[in-house]
Amino acid sequence: MKNPQKIAEPTGKLGILLVGLGAVSTTTIAGVIAIRRGLAKPIGSLTQMGTIRLGKRTEGRSPLIRDFVPLAGLKDIVFGAWDIFEDTAYDAAKTAGVLDKDLLDQIRPEMEAIKPMSAVFDRRYVKRLDGPNVKKGTNKKELAEQLIEDMRRFKKENNCDRLVMIWCGSTEVYLTESAAHASIGNLEKALEASDDNVPSSMIYAYAAIKEGIPYANAAPNLSADIPALLELADDTGSPLAGKDLKTGQTWMKTVVAPGIKARLLGVHGWYSTNILGNRDGEVLDDPESFKTKEESKKSVLDYILQPKLYPDLYGKLDHVVRINYYPPRGDNKEGWDNIDIFGWLGYPMQLKINFLCRDSILAAPIVLDTALFLDLARRANMSGIQEWLSFYYKSPMHAKGLYPEHDLFIQLMKLKNTLRFMRGEELITHLGLEYYD
Ligand SMILES: NC(=O)c1ccc[n+]([C@@H]2O[C@H](COP(=O)([O-])OP(=O)(O)OC[C@H]3O[C@@H](n4cnc5c(N)ncnc54)[C@H](O)[C@@H]3O)[C@@H](O)[C@H]2O)c1
Repeated sequence: MKNPQKIAEPTGKLGILLVGLGAVSTTTIAGVIAIRRGLAKPIGSLTQMGTIRLGKRTEGRSPLIRDFVPLAGLKDIVFGAWDIFEDTAYDAAKTAGVLDKDLLDQIRPEMEAIKPMSAVFDRRYVKRLDGPNVKKGTNKKELAEQLIEDMRRFKKENNCDRLVMIWCGSTEVYLTESAAHASIGNLEKALEASDDNVPSSMIYAYAAIKEGIPYANAAPNLSADIPALLELADDTGSPLAGKDLKTGQTWMKTVVAPGIKARLLGVHGWYSTNILGNRDGEVLDDPESFKTKEESKKSVLDYILQPKLYPDLYGKLDHVVRINYYPPRGDNKEGWDNIDIFGWLGYPMQLKINFLCRDSILAAPIVLDTALFLDLARRANMSGIQEWLSFYYKSPMHAKGLYPEHDLFIQLMKLKNTLRFMRGEELITHLGLEYYD
């Protein structure tokens, strides 16, 4: 990659196509509309509120990120979506129960105008759901072609200059990489044969990448994270990001674990449990969907604590993750972490974290940031995995042969240094010896 990057200006409209019009999607859409109308602030969004230090600490240069790199403005965003239910974004937001009726009523006409396109869906991959708004086709390749038609039509009807697609659909059952995913030739054959190894999320990812559209995955499904789609993204120039938004408990884990490790304190065990009552919680109540989520949630500690390098500190760590579906809580998840740590001479201590969070309130700014940064990457001709967006994900996509970086602070430094690099600014290493010369 050359530096600085030649970045095309974000002229015209950006269409953000969300797969799934549930809690996360409707909270994102309603948020952007409310912020645009001056009804609320974009709290939690790095692209809207974050700054970036440039040059030496003595220079006092810290512009807003959105003034430093050419991002699409909120006023230029148009939303579209697919869902298996026919509810408009307004009704879906009411069902999700995240936002107050007062706020939703103020933006009702714009929310009601967003009607979901019919979905590519197969119950085999999401066992707890079924709905009427589903496409029919002779095979999965044909379904992908229908999605491509949807995208082209949406772009034309809404006069969009560019599109981005983000999977905000339910977590699918656990799948591992297989021969069908090994090359684009194999995947296209598997699509034609309606092979079981191709879940719905992969059909959407294929359709977006085939069209050269940036694709991100907010859920832990395999989706675009297979050699075949990486190969296709290389050919078509699609930038990719994912998987699984790092919001509540796992976000907190990637804040606390680097702190424990920085001081070389040991960890005997980390027990994490959650109660959650939204539709996501209901889907995750199915053991096969939970398995996908569990794998995603559990990997972070191994990579941050590096038990092979520190066997005395983390070699025998017991890491348990539970999610319990408990309807009265709705989207207001409660997470508990009990962390058994030990210090000098092996003396034990405990750390307890009780996080009463709001899942979709934490997720929405990440969906917005990912869409705007992927659109930036596309205009800068950066294709394939955008590892600098790991900051937002529980299971960051990464190049073969690398381990994923999970430490939130390293991830943030990587993100900001990538932006500096794109603009030809000096990278910040925090060495700082020059201040003492
Ligand atoms: N909220 C968070 O903090 C968070 C964090 C990490 C990951 N996620 C993931 O993001 C996803 C969305 O979460 P949510 O809370 O909005 O869930 P949700 O259940 O409210 O919404 C998901 C929507 O996707 C739809 N859907 C499922 N399969 C589809 C398909 N094939 N095509 C089109 N639509 C489809 C469902 O009908 C539903 O409306 C989930 O996979 C969840 O695990 C959420």
